[in-house]
Amino acid sequence: MPWVAAFINLLTEPLLGYCLAARKFALQAGIILLHHHQQQQQLEIPVAREETLDSLPTAIKQPMAPSMELEAAQEKAVRAPTTGSSNGSGGGVISSKPKHRFVGVVIAMTGLPARGKSLVAHGLARRLNWNGESAKVMRVSDYRRKRHESYGSHELFRPDHEANSALRALALNDAMQDCSSWLAAGNTVAILDATVVTRDQRAEVHEYFAQRLGYRLLFVECVCQDAAQIESNCREIIKHNTDYAGMEPNEAYEDLKIKIAHYEKIHQPMDEPEYPRIRIDTATMNISAYKVQGHIESNVLGYLGSVAIKPHTLYFSRHGESEFNVLGKIGGDAVLSARGEKYAQALSAKINSMHIPDLRVFTSRLRRTIATARGIEAPQEHIAALNELYAGVCEGLSYEEMQEQYPQEFAWRDQDKLRYRYPWGESYVDTMQRVEPVIVELQQANNVLTVSHQAILRCIIGYFLDKKPEELPYMEVPLHTIIRVSSHGFCYKLELIGLGIECVNTTRHKPKNCSSNRSADDALLTVPAHYDIPDPWRNPGNGPTLVQQH
Ligand SMILES: *[C@@H]1O[C@H](CO)[C@@H](O)[C@H](O)[C@H]1NC(C)=O
Ligand SMILES: *[C@@H]1O[C@H](CO)[C@@H](O)[C@H](O)[C@H]1NC(C)=O
Ligand SMILES: *[C@@H]1O[C@H](CO)[C@@H](O)[C@H](O)[C@H]1NC(C)=O
Ligand SMILES: *[C@@H]1O[C@H](CO)[C@@H](O)[C@H](O)[C@H]1NC(C)=O
Ligand SMILES: *[C@@H]1O[C@H](CO)[C@@H](O)[C@H](O)[C@H]1NC(C)=O
Repeated sequence: MPWVAAFINLLTEPLLGYCLAARKFALQAGIILLHHHQQQQQLEIPVAREETLDSLPTAIKQPMAPSMELEAAQEKAVRAPTTGSSNGSGGGVISSKPKHRFVGVVIAMTGLPARGKSLVAHGLARRLNWNGESAKVMRVSDYRRKRHESYGSHELFRPDHEANSALRALALNDAMQDCSSWLAAGNTVAILDATVVTRDQRAEVHEYFAQRLGYRLLFVECVCQDAAQIESNCREIIKHNTDYAGMEPNEAYEDLKIKIAHYEKIHQPMDEPEYPRIRIDTATMNISAYKVQGHIESNVLGYLGSVAIKPHTLYFSRHGESEFNVLGKIGGDAVLSARGEKYAQALSAKINSMHIPDLRVFTSRLRRTIATARGIEAPQEHIAALNELYAGVCEGLSYEEMQEQYPQEFAWRDQDKLRYRYPWGESYVDTMQRVEPVIVELQQANNVLTVSHQAILRCIIGYFLDKKPEELPYMEVPLHTIIRVSSHGFCYKLELIGLGIECVNTTRHKPKNCSSNRSADDALLTVPAHYDIPDPWRNPGNGPTLVQQH
């Protein structure tokens, strides 16, 4: 009977798709959950005792973020070679035989100054951390400034000045030591943001990390032959690098050019056949890879294609206040309230008056974001990945109703808002994965306004601001506010532009009592105030009642 077959096909295809998606989410949630437990257990590891560390299951050695105390204690465990001597009083703990006891990967940046190394390094760290690794950038110039605070001038970088060369070698060693401490503490990726422009320096880096410590080492070489791109990189460096703080811009630019010339004198482009490496031309984005293997390394190769090299500015806004916001309900596909409509007009007027060049608008596929962006004069794209976190069986409920109908779910959500998944719905971890393709596009975009929802914007803005996953669900992203996120060197800075149109406040802090047997009053303690009819201003009638904060 063909119709039976057709019917079964109809059923199985979406089911199969759902199962695959669910498995992916479960895996992701599992990874992060694992890290969560590790973090707690990590504290019990007796530090600096290698045998103990060694005998622990590998899983426990990978916390997402180790405590500062642990980091400090581990720092003593591993010593970098002091230049010129391969064994000496500094070492001791490390035997010469690589033991591969840690899974760590070191990514060593190499290339002349002003080729975008720091931008690439921080872009990689951000993306790796987003996907469950624990990555950190060790920037050699930070260590140099720790040893020698004042910059002075390019003289510091003359290759023929012995004292200064020694200072820079010490800074490189400091950074390498911190890389190994970071990995020894159980983290997965250390990024050495160095220049290492000579073969000897790269050999030293390889000897230390790969041969002595047994970590996997990947060189990422940044090159750039485009004079205009280099000049614009230099201008950015002068603006944001502390070395040039207080220096007159043109003077700083000349100084930086001489500094680069010092490096060019000794520069040996990377051609060592024995090291795994990726070469990226930051002007053309031509990427070539040599001997790259391992899952982290392959991911790095993929991430490099979309790192942000050029300075850029992004705009974000939540939709205008919706009728569900007014009622204190979550999810759904409600229309804007009267005040929400007012915000939509004010937002359009404001954005249109800013005449942002080549502005593009992204919205979700839900009515409230599309309506909010309707008046903005720019191409608009409606993206399903920007839809609000799907609350499954709780869609359309207020927190009071959720407490009444699903008190256990409500308590579980408060216990772990990041990983909690609504029945038949999503968790924050799920949405982090769902919005990643949009984040990838935003990394290389300039002047895009994203009109989306509270949970989704927490994820996207949190990504650019390097928030820890645990912080995302409690970030404040107010209604009726334009949020400008602009690059500032390799970091981002945030500005809030309020448009002064009244709205409800939808931020709910974590309540003190998250236990499953808490009273309803305890559960509802931090639920923000809202109204009992959808649009009290359009339907004055009997007079709206404000449901006060409990
Ligand atoms: C360093 O190595 C040399 C030669 O391999 C050896 O004679 C010396 O004892 C070593 N020093 C220490 C402190 O291990
Ligand atoms: C990209 O880089 C590789 C390796 O350096 C080089 O051989 C190739 O010609 C480059 N391609 C383009 C289009 O520049
Ligand atoms: C919204 O409410 C939260 C929690 O009560 C509070 O911290 C925040 O300041 C409020 N935001 C505004 C814009 O009033
Ligand atoms: C509620 O649960 C906590 C543990 O989560 C327990 O300590 C407490 O005694 C319980 N209270 C009541 C009233 O059952
Ligand atoms: C939460 O409420 C329950 C029941 O009233 C109580 O037993 C428990 O001690 C409270 N927990 C906290 C952390 O206040």
